[in-house]
Amino acid sequence: KTRVGILISGRGSNMQALIRAAEAADYPAGIALVISNRADAVGLDIARQHGVPALAIPGRDFGADRAAHEAAIDAALRDAGCEIVCLAGYMRLLTPFLVHNWAGKMLNIHPSLLPAYPGLDTHARALAAGAKIHGCTVHLVTETVDDGPILAQAAVPVLPGDTEQSLAARVLAQEHRIYPAALASLTGAAAVPADRGISLINPCV
Ligand code: GAR
Repeated sequence: KTRVGILISGRGSNMQALIRAAEAADYPAGIALVISNRADAVGLDIARQHGVPALAIPGRDFGADRAAHEAAIDAALRDAGCEIVCLAGYMRLLTPFLVHNWAGKMLNIHPSLLPAYPGLDTHARALAAGAKIHGCTVHLVTETVDDGPILAQAAVPVLPGDTEQSLAARVLAQEHRIYPAALASLTGAAAVPADRGISLINPCV
């Protein structure tokens, strides 16, 4: 199995979806390590309950030295033999150091149909715009935030009476489907060139 590291900052539900998928004998990836930049991330406990090694490498331990923080993360990933990195609700901006070290081998999940709504508060912004379709995207990470070749997307309807919470829940259910599928599509193969994505799924539910 291809060894995968997951970076989180909080709840870790996408991380858990990846761990659960990887527990299947026929899934091509195994989760070797989970790292959180916050010591209080609930996801760390969930990972350990699944028997996955989980480390906190808090950004605040490094003060303003983002390079040193990322060097520590990079070293931990390499020590664990990781070949691919999945960002799963990792809410700290990356510097080019980590992005370049893992070019073509680092994935992110974002709660919108990119290139619509990069950044924060995607569900509120979709509702405010009157969007009728919303969704989520798995993409390769490049230096630009929430940008990069798209590997998988899922669309959901925006329904009358939706709140930010109800829309977020509908999207999150799809995140948990497409992230394991997109990771499986990458593993086993050599690093995907940064300019070539894989078009995967589009289940409009
Ligand atoms: C997910 O909805 C993920 O798409 C989003 O944060 C949430 C994390 O939830 N990520 C971003 O907004 C990154 N730009 P989780 O910790 O339960 O997976």
